[in-house]
Amino acid sequence: MLIQPATIDYSRIPELPAGTFTAPLARPAHVGIDWLEPHQRSYTIEEHGIWDDLYAQQMAVLPGRAASSFIAGLERLDLGQGGVPDFESLSDALEPITGWRVVAVPMLIPDHVFFYHLANRRFPAGNFIRSRAQFDYISEPDVFHDVFGHVPMLTDPVYADYMQEYGRAGWKALANNRLKALSALYWYTVEFGLIREAEGIRAYGAGILSGPSEAVFAVEGQSPNRIHLEVDRVMRTDYVISDMQPTYFVIDSFEELFRKTVERNFDDLYRALNPGFTYSNQAVLGGDRVHHLGTQEYVNRGGQGSGAKPV
Ligand SMILES: [Fe+2]
Repeated sequence: MLIQPATIDYSRIPELPAGTFTAPLARPAHVGIDWLEPHQRSYTIEEHGIWDDLYAQQMAVLPGRAASSFIAGLERLDLGQGGVPDFESLSDALEPITGWRVVAVPMLIPDHVFFYHLANRRFPAGNFIRSRAQFDYISEPDVFHDVFGHVPMLTDPVYADYMQEYGRAGWKALANNRLKALSALYWYTVEFGLIREAEGIRAYGAGILSGPSEAVFAVEGQSPNRIHLEVDRVMRTDYVISDMQPTYFVIDSFEELFRKTVERNFDDLYRALNPGFTYSNQAVLGGDRVHHLGTQEYVNRGGQGSGAKPV
């Protein structure tokens, strides 16, 4: 994002400027400052079975709702071959395509370490898999979310470049104390992004693709807004972590996403942003290009826990 490569060494973990707020994550004693596990753990037969059942559940809803590059990536990487994939073999299949590898981490990792791995084309994936009790909702990303949801998209060359540039952009967000704004961009693209294809709107965000009901809600639901992505606007928009989104942002292509983010001067934008968010996640603004004006019925009825149907 117009960072001068000569001044930044992306091969080293960025420094956290004094006063930067980061999530209070306790690093387990067996991992170093890069948070990488020495090896991917092994999984029980029951755990491999959980992967298979999650895979089958998603494949019942994703055709016709997932981006074509996601479906192509799933097939190219053979993620449905049965059981939790082995990261080494998966990386050996992915690396010749876009240069990315998948590496094991024990849990959610700090932002600055995440940026460091992305900037070096390593995708950190949670080592553990959810239990059956948490089948449809997890409080932190596990191997199914990370590998099934994120890794197929890394076979798309433009998307793969975007992810690396997102990691590099972390250095600038750290320097400007605007991590929240950069997180909003990640949330509304990498986790919950929609793309317009010839047949209609499709999901490319991993949060949508790895969950049981959000693909239908995000792509076809009447409740949520679907608004064309503008970076300044997205970076100012609040988001919800534990429920479906009131608003999704739409792109026409990954080239458009790359152009609107990487090829702009984020220093100016960061300087213009407030520290917190300016827009509620239900807002529709005068300048928005609206693809679907949502009824907001789901969130207005109380969302998750209220018994409201996600329609
Ligand atoms: Fe994710």
